[in-house]
Amino acid sequence: MTQNSGSRLEGKVAVVTGATGGIGEAIAKRFLEEGASVMLVGRSAEKLQATRNRLESNGKIAEFIADATDEKATAASIQAAVDTFGGLDILIANAGTEGRIAPIESLTVDDFESVYRTNLIGVWLAMKYAVEPLKKRGGGSIVALSSISGVIGFPTMAPYIASKHAVYGLVKTAALELAPFNVRVNAVGPAPIDNRMIRSLETQFSPDDADAAREMIMSKMPMGRYGTNEEVANLALFLASDEASYCSGSIHMIDGGFTAG
Ligand SMILES: NC(=O)c1ccc[n+]([C@@H]2O[C@H](COP(=O)([O-])OP(=O)(O)OC[C@H]3O[C@@H](n4cnc5c(N)ncnc54)[C@H](OP(=O)(O)O)[C@@H]3O)[C@@H](O)[C@H]2O)c1
Repeated sequence: MTQNSGSRLEGKVAVVTGATGGIGEAIAKRFLEEGASVMLVGRSAEKLQATRNRLESNGKIAEFIADATDEKATAASIQAAVDTFGGLDILIANAGTEGRIAPIESLTVDDFESVYRTNLIGVWLAMKYAVEPLKKRGGGSIVALSSISGVIGFPTMAPYIASKHAVYGLVKTAALELAPFNVRVNAVGPAPIDNRMIRSLETQFSPDDADAAREMIMSKMPMGRYGTNEEVANLALFLASDEASYCSGSIHMIDGGFTAG
């Protein structure tokens, strides 16, 4: 899908966590095209450099290494955006992991904790350190990546499903706390998106024939296909921009109609 460059985020500063992944890179690219300065945050120096190399020609960009579960590193990543670009207007709390697929009785505490640490505590930590800089700016927008898994159940995915429901609860609470400060907080709820994460899930569902799992999942989608990273980026752009000035505290589905069923 081709996009026009514009100025919907001109002068804004954004932090994007999980910037080395499919959705994160697409969001960073879209934001750069719309005039934002973007701090890419990721846990792998090599992947961050590669992402930066791909995006550099699009605008003002910097990168910071931080594991989403590491409080000090997360705090430092937000401070780095403020120091580098002069403030913070937008946080995209996007880093996430699918975890291990297993029925409830086979899951371990580590299965649960590892998913929760990244998908829930990681999102909260990014929010925690973004609040003061956003307030200082007189307002801003936080967008957290939930999922259709934030509103429906699915067998064998308990840690992921529970973590994405929890993200929605966190977003609702943060929206109420931050509304008086003109900071809007929303969640995005994608259905399967055509990238590494759904590939990993297809393989876990059907180790001998991941393509069969793909066909099966797509057959359940009302539009008969997965979404794209770029489609999610367009929704994130809307929620981050002033066009969404009265949107806060909601989960915005981007699922080709899946949760309408
Ligand atoms: N793909 C889908 O079908 C789908 C659907 C609904 C919601 N989502 C959500 O969308 C978000 C982005 O995922 P994606 O689809 O773009 O998948 P992805 O390509 O696997 O990207 C995940 C990103 O999160 C990063 N990450 C994972 N654990 C981390 C940690 N502990 N610390 C720092 N970074 C960490 C990954 O870093 P590395 O590159 O270093 O691994 C990567 O940048 C996730 O929250 C996911 O749950 C995805």
